[in-house]
Amino acid sequence: MNVLIVGSGGREHSLAWALSRSPSKPGIFGLPGNPGIAELGENLPTDMLDPSTVLQAVRETRIDLVVVGPEAPLVDGLADALNQAGVRVFGPSAAAAEIEGSKVFAKDLMERYGIPTAGHQVAYDADAANRIAAGVGYPHVLKADGLAAGKGALIVQSRAEAEEAIDAMMVKKQFGDAGARVVFEEFLEGEEMSVFAVASGERYVLLTTSQDYKRAHDGDRGLNTGGMGAYAPVVTWNDTLAEHVCTEIIEPTLLAMAREDRPYTGLLYAGLMVREKKARVVEFNCRFGDPETQALVPIIDGDLLELLWEASDPAIGKRPLPECAHDGRTAVCVVLSSGGYPGKVTTGHTIHGIEKAREVSGALVFHAGTGMDKSNLVTRGGRVLNVVGVDRTLPAAQECAYVAASKIEFEGVFCRRDIGWRGLEALSARSNSES
Ligand code: AMP
Ligand code: GLY
Repeated sequence: MNVLIVGSGGREHSLAWALSRSPSKPGIFGLPGNPGIAELGENLPTDMLDPSTVLQAVRETRIDLVVVGPEAPLVDGLADALNQAGVRVFGPSAAAAEIEGSKVFAKDLMERYGIPTAGHQVAYDADAANRIAAGVGYPHVLKADGLAAGKGALIVQSRAEAEEAIDAMMVKKQFGDAGARVVFEEFLEGEEMSVFAVASGERYVLLTTSQDYKRAHDGDRGLNTGGMGAYAPVVTWNDTLAEHVCTEIIEPTLLAMAREDRPYTGLLYAGLMVREKKARVVEFNCRFGDPETQALVPIIDGDLLELLWEASDPAIGKRPLPECAHDGRTAVCVVLSSGGYPGKVTTGHTIHGIEKAREVSGALVFHAGTGMDKSNLVTRGGRVLNVVGVDRTLPAAQECAYVAASKIEFEGVFCRRDIGWRGLEALSARSNSES
């Protein structure tokens, strides 16, 4: 079987790695891929946002299954184009991907179907937005409706900050058309976590939960980034919470999508805020999370390829989805970034030490923003590599990740030193209450 992974980041390398370990020994292809995916197979240098050239590449390489990593091609209809051509694809249709592509759609869906989330109001122009800003309490959250590369949500502390954000989004059009409509959302407190359901219509299998560390600096300070690390499974996740999330969030959402004639096939990512054993939805994404996937796939006990293959079968009928359980271990993923990230970075710096990092027992290294300069591996972006430590406990997995990360060098390299701290804190609170 030949599998094509669409995308070029650490999420895609980790998916390629997990799929390559299937007993069915698939051929692995990346589109456009990265040097890490090239270690496992072959990259196809094609524009993932052009469905006709993707389809041509799929036909030429006799691909059996396409797994789409990022949201943009899904929201643009890549899965529809491939499905119409008879190609099996794991990823939702454009209509279903709107759950991520439009916050207004997602909030409206949750409201109509009683799915727990933050209260909200929508503004369609700057005047209406300023009127809403005058009447809400602070802190409050303002979100651009459309895709904004993870930068479209702003937590504002005052009416003045809200007005500034409205001006940036709706008047100066900082996010282009994505900011034409703005969602005002009640600020939720609690512990954030990411839940991944592999869905095929109303059927689904839940993968292990994970937690993303989005801020640039230790202690969750600094600017929001694309993710500086993640760990899995979340210490505070348990069977009772899982039952609550499945019955109150995942199942009603898949049912709602089916009723709205947007049946959901692909990865449904629920970003949750959990407080006092109750979860509310902060966001839905229509694909695997990055960097959560890098922490999650190494601790799956099962054949991820078989699961994605079955879930994407349009003729699945009543066949149950294969399980992909948690193998009982913990993983910590640390993102190695270029100096200055998430601001301006310089690239083209030679990377050393990946092999040494991989020699650390339990460590994995996934490529994100890397590229080849002749035969030299160099930095090509803000988030360069993902170093994952896997072990039986969270402290051991964290140590493994940081020992391995210390072997890697490139000019300006930096990482957060505290990935997983919330889990460690929860473990120590638990042991204090037991003693
Ligand atoms: P989003 O663009 O919806 O993914 O939001 C980005 C990040 O902003 C989330 O991961 C949260 O950390 C934070 N956030 C979004 N909405 C809320 C909310 N209603 N309350 C508190 N934090 C939020
Ligand atoms: N880790 C957040 C995201 O993938 O959107």
